[in-house]
Amino acid sequence: MNIILLGPPGAGKGTQARILVEEHGMVQLSTGDMLRAAKESGTEMGDIVADVMARGALVTDDIVIGLIREQLNTVNANGFIFDGFPRTLAQADALTNLLAAEGESLDAVVEMEVDDDALVARITARSTCGDCGEVYNDNTKPQPADGKCSNCGASDFRRRADDNEESLRTRLMEYYKKTSPLIGYYYAKGMLTKINGLGEIATVKAAIDKALS
Ligand code: AP5
Ligand code: MG
Repeated sequence: MNIILLGPPGAGKGTQARILVEEHGMVQLSTGDMLRAAKESGTEMGDIVADVMARGALVTDDIVIGLIREQLNTVNANGFIFDGFPRTLAQADALTNLLAAEGESLDAVVEMEVDDDALVARITARSTCGDCGEVYNDNTKPQPADGKCSNCGASDFRRRADDNEESLRTRLMEYYKKTSPLIGYYYAKGMLTKINGLGEIATVKAAIDKALS
C-alpha cells in the first residue's frame, strides 16, 4: 500500500508514520527529514535549503521531487508512507508519474485535521531524538526521566530551528495557500479520507487503521 499522510505542521504525520513503519514494515518518506539530513551533512543542497526551512517557507518543487525520485528508484518497500510530500499540486502530479514509472500507484490519502491552537501548542513543545528520530512532546510525550531515548537509548534530544512561533506562522500560511488545495484534488480522485487528528496518539492511530482497512 502507498499512502499519503496529509496535514498541517504538527498534525502528527511523523508520529503516525513511525507507528505504521513499525507495525506494517512500510517505508516512511519524509521530505522534511531528508532536507534536514542534507542540511546536517553540509551538502550544497543542504546549504541552499537551510534558510528557506528555518523561515518556514517551502523548498522548490524540483528539489523535493528529486529527493522522492531518488528514493523510489533505489528503495524496495512493502509500501511507502509519504509524509510531508506532496505539498503543491505540481508535486502531486509528479508523484503520480513517479509511481506509475515504477508500476505502482497511490492507494489512499489520509487528511489529519487538527485546529491551529493545538498545532501551536504541539510544535512549541516538540523535541526529537537526534539519533533515531523518535518524536517527543513536553506535554503529551515527555522525554524519559533517565535522559535516554525510549527507542534507541541515545541522549541527543533536539529542537527544530523552525519550531518557533514566527516560522510556524509562515509554515501554516504556506500550508493553507499551497498545500490545502491537495485536499480537493485527492477528494475529486476519490482517494481522500479525513480523520480527526486531535485525539490521543493511540486514538488517531486507530482512526488511520480504520481509514486504511
Ligand atoms: P516537515 O518536516 O515536513 O514539517 P511539517 O510539515 O511542518 O510538519 P511537522 O514535522 O512539523 O509535523 P508532523 O505533522 O510531522 O507532527 P509530529 O508527528 O512531529 O517540513 C519542514 C520544512 O521542510 C518545511 O517547512 C519546508 O521548508 C521543507 N519541506 C519539507 N517537505 C517539503 C515539500 N514537499 N515541499 C517543499 N518544502 C518542503 O508531531 C508534532 C508534535 O505533536 C510532537 O511533539 C508530537 O509528540 C505531538 N503529537 C503528535 N500526535 C499527537 C497527538 N495525537 N496528541 C498530542 N500530541 C501529539
Ligand atoms: Mg514531521
